[in-house]
Amino acid sequence: MRQVTDIAQIREFLSGFPDIFLVYDRNLARLASSVEGVCLATKAIDATEADKTMDSVLEICRWLLKLGADRGATLVALGGGITTDICGFAASVYKRGIRFGFIPTTLLAQVDAALGGKNGVNLDGYKNMIGVIREPAFTLICPALLSTLPDREWRGGTAELLKSFIIDNTGGHYEEAVDALRHSRACEPRHSRACPGNLILAAAAVKERIVAADLYEQGERRKLNLGHTFAHAIERRARLAGLDISHGEAVAEGIILAARVSERLSLAPAGLEERLRRDWEAVGLPADSPFPPAVLAADMAKDKKADGEKVHFVLIRAIGDVVTVPLTVTEVLDLL
Ligand SMILES: NC(=O)c1ccc[n+]([C@@H]2O[C@H](COP(=O)([O-])OP(=O)(O)OC[C@H]3O[C@@H](n4cnc5c(N)ncnc54)[C@H](O)[C@@H]3O)[C@@H](O)[C@H]2O)c1
Ligand SMILES: [Zn+2]
Repeated sequence: MRQVTDIAQIREFLSGFPDIFLVYDRNLARLASSVEGVCLATKAIDATEADKTMDSVLEICRWLLKLGADRGATLVALGGGITTDICGFAASVYKRGIRFGFIPTTLLAQVDAALGGKNGVNLDGYKNMIGVIREPAFTLICPALLSTLPDREWRGGTAELLKSFIIDNTGGHYEEAVDALRHSRACEPRHSRACPGNLILAAAAVKERIVAADLYEQGERRKLNLGHTFAHAIERRARLAGLDISHGEAVAEGIILAARVSERLSLAPAGLEERLRRDWEAVGLPADSPFPPAVLAADMAKDKKADGEKVHFVLIRAIGDVVTVPLTVTEVLDLL
């Protein structure tokens, strides 16, 4: 992960590579045009969840083949997590793997999706079913690119940012982030986006540290799933009910449920859930899942992180101190 402050620095960095093939989210054509001068070729893709499939991967591979990209080529993805996931996978299988790099343009991708080496696409409507673990040669973090991000995308990313600091609050970044985000809500939104640049880097560094310790998710990396077992169930239920709930919103609600379970198991001191609710309110994140726990339970048992009967629930002992506890869904249901 490398911090850059503007397009000029991105161009300068990319110009150090001989053959850059740039794939970008079609919605970011203007941004892409500002770096195309240092690329050998560029290609726009549709970056919706429905496009995150093998078809898109093959389309990129065919494009590389047609242009004669060889093993010295570098595939660069410019976009959010959908674009980086598709491109990371395509680059990992084209000619058995070429170099790839990411320029994430959403907050979620800067603190999460573009880091950690998981590259995958959906299969028959099931998320991230096919993929590889392979780390990019570089991820350029440029908070200034977020100035055009729609509000909802921004807020969704803030849930993952705060999640990182609940996992690791070295330097008191959690409190700093809540303050900055509370303040930024009161400001003119477009200006506020640039202000927590140091926090974006700090959150990205939390993910990098955890992944460096456990790339293949044998232990430590599971902590990054804080709130996610609940969130995946909320997202599935929302899809079935035709409700529009973003991943970040579901994660925010999932973290509140994780806090409640933590308190009821006496892992966390009383008041943790209340504190998080106040913080969520201040930064504009939803706290309450629209579905009662019993409705989420069936889905949670099916979560792909389930291990036999038990599910690895990430619980909170304190801000900056989380622990993975294997629990059955019934045990969790009884606590909620
Ligand atoms: N590989 C991983 O470890 C990992 C981790 C978390 C999430 N993901 C994946 O990431 C995907 C979600 O990614 P996401 O939320 O970053 O975004 P996205 O790629 O879905 O983009 C969200 C929207 O924002 C637009 N957009 C992107 N950047 C913009 C900008 N700078 N200005 C204006 N609009 C912009 C996009 O066109 C799109 O409409 C999911 O598919 C998820 O599975 C992967
Ligand atoms: Zn997430």
